Amino acid sequence: MWEYTDKVKDHFLNPRNVGEVEKADGVAEVGSIACGDALRFSFSLDENKRIKDAKFKTFGCASAIATSSALTEMVKGMTLDEALKVSNRDIAAFLGGLPEEKMHCSVMGKEALEAAVANYRGAPVKEPGAQII
Ligand code: FES
Repeated sequence: MWEYTDKVKDHFLNPRNVGEVEKADGVAEVGSIACGDALRFSFSLDENKRIKDAKFKTFGCASAIATSSALTEMVKGMTLDEALKVSNRDIAAFLGGLPEEKMHCSVMGKEALEAAVANYRGAPVKEPGAQII
């Protein structure tokens, strides 16, 4: 069994920012080939082009939920370029650490953020087709 920090457990059991941002400026869905999990990320910007709101929906494990929740908290108030610099190691550190075997789960949120920023910058939304909640 994995050893999770209290902060990971808290973000898994009480995830922040679950759902979809209304009138999102960027949105994207990504999936993990490694485990079949999927994640949808959306965000909106304020008048200074900083992230005003960020939300996620996921079909994933405890680590995917906790790291996505953490990511949405971390990037609020950042510019898109600042948000793109947040690494999955930063997300793990924010949560007080993740088991090494679960680090790949933190990549999905970051990939979804990157794809949502690309969507804002003109890329079409790729819909994997799976219905996720
Ligand atoms: Fe799939 Fe964690 S096992 S995201």
